[in-house]
Amino acid sequence: MCGIVGYIGNNNAKTIVMDGLRRLEYRGYDSAGVSLFNPDTNGFELIKKKGRIVNLEAALPGYSTPIAIGHTRWATHGKVSQENAHPHVSASGRFTIVHNGVIDNHMELRKRYLEHVEFKSQTDSEVIVELIDLFSKNLSTDSAIRKTLSALEGSYALLVMDNTDPFTMYGAKHKSPLLLGKGEEGMVIGSDMMALIDVADNYLALDDETLVRMDTKNFTLYNIDGDVLPYKLSKLEVDEIDSDKGEFDHFMLKEIHEQPAVLRRIIGEYFNETHIRIDDALIHSIASRDRIYILAAGTSMHAGLVGKTLIEKLTDIPVEVHVASEFAYDPPKLTANPQFIMISQSGETADLRACLMNLKKDAHPTLTLTNVKTSTLAREADHFLQLFAGPEIAVASTKAYTAQIAVLAILGYALSAQSFDLKRELSEVAIAMEDFLSKSNSIESDVKTLLTKRNAFYIGRGLDNKVCMEAALKLKEISYIQTEGFAAGELKHGTIALIEEDTPVIAIIANEKTAENTRSNLSEVESRGAKTYTIALESVAHDDDDIVLNNVSPLLSPLITVIPTQLIAYYAALHRDLDIDKPRNLAKSVTVE
Ligand code: M6R
Repeated sequence: MCGIVGYIGNNNAKTIVMDGLRRLEYRGYDSAGVSLFNPDTNGFELIKKKGRIVNLEAALPGYSTPIAIGHTRWATHGKVSQENAHPHVSASGRFTIVHNGVIDNHMELRKRYLEHVEFKSQTDSEVIVELIDLFSKNLSTDSAIRKTLSALEGSYALLVMDNTDPFTMYGAKHKSPLLLGKGEEGMVIGSDMMALIDVADNYLALDDETLVRMDTKNFTLYNIDGDVLPYKLSKLEVDEIDSDKGEFDHFMLKEIHEQPAVLRRIIGEYFNETHIRIDDALIHSIASRDRIYILAAGTSMHAGLVGKTLIEKLTDIPVEVHVASEFAYDPPKLTANPQFIMISQSGETADLRACLMNLKKDAHPTLTLTNVKTSTLAREADHFLQLFAGPEIAVASTKAYTAQIAVLAILGYALSAQSFDLKRELSEVAIAMEDFLSKSNSIESDVKTLLTKRNAFYIGRGLDNKVCMEAALKLKEISYIQTEGFAAGELKHGTIALIEEDTPVIAIIANEKTAENTRSNLSEVESRGAKTYTIALESVAHDDDDIVLNNVSPLLSPLITVIPTQLIAYYAALHRDLDIDKPRNLAKSVTVE
């Protein structure tokens, strides 16, 4: 989703901002722009382009500059167009901004203050720059920005430049992430830690409703009333994005193949000879709760569904799983003593943050499971557990999903009486994953003949059904085939009406108790013309199953049954010649509600 980068310092801001924008590309965007200080004219030059960053790059001027801001936009208000791309400049030409987030009251603000203004874009963001311009007629820039922020409702990460004082840059944040980095040669500011690397040695994650004023050497932090705030910089330590796809054509394929190694890393990080490396106090605290509420979105929510079964089978604690965007505004009746677990690959999902803010207000205990230890949700929850999946670049989440399940299994195990050897069982899963990935070549051609229609179904029961939901999401998000993940036994209660000649129905069969029921459901759809495909664990496999996976502990079966479904999605998108790592309309990090 939208990305922000700004730089002010002794080095070439144009290069730094463009490098930063490229590092944020993986988040998803549909247009990009920069504003650069032009030393020849002593003013700012605006360049924006629809589409990929390469389009913007081709239009950049040759000069070096000490100050620049840049933005990648993922459209929310107004179509994808050059006019709607950021930065936005006030009609007078004095102020330039980039903005992430959504201004909920932009219509009201237009009516109340800005009826005289001819807006150039359809964005909510342009209101911000016009308000700053308006208020600056009677106030200092600093006060005009603060007055503007007080009028805004919604979320923002914002950078502001003033062409009457070009060697000062302003940043502000509320609900959308903004991080400030300080290096030997200057200040860098961005919406993601990735924007700061190579420039900053130390960083500060801005709190909500704080502002920063930067010059080439230093910065001042203050609140919306103008009071100067103390701060403590932290050492910048990020896993560099592994921008090398190695032997693979796409990051998604590389990340699918990384899963055995990720699982082994998780085992190494969380187990020592005698103990699980999760804070004992946290385990005791969760163990004393009367219910766990898992909150998440998309793939992470699907991992949460598997986690619910794992924790409920291993402990006596009931678990509910909720879609974050629903829970934030329509929570269920809570038990007296709940524990909340937020699961998020990115740690930046705005729907989850909305939940977290409400939970914190009511002093509920919160734990985040995330891949990004410096993320907002990691910082703001009471506790966090890291996924150790390494940077996930493809928009379609694969290795983070299996990492989430593995960490949830370890958490459940730590909460349980521990009468089995989870470390060994997870190691066996890693071997099974590796074994399957080394001989998975048939999927590519199978997919060609199987997925010939606009729609498809995954069916399964119990944990298999939960994997089906994830499998369906993966297939639809990158191949655009409309897919449903369905409880196998529920199909006949209505949805079977959609089955016609050659409708693809893929079954996941790992559960011994229900394997034959799922096979009966497959026969029902075959009788109605469906083209079926089976993914089964060896223990329940038939000779004619299409994919047979090595046996693993039944509770951990989602870690292995999901792998063929990831490859099915990958090859379906590949055959359709689609942009696998950056599917249309999607963003890696969904930072608006
Ligand atoms: O970063 P998060 O795990 O919080 O993201 C949640 C979803 O946006 C994410 O899982 C999304 O569904 C992926 N595109 C799935 O591949």
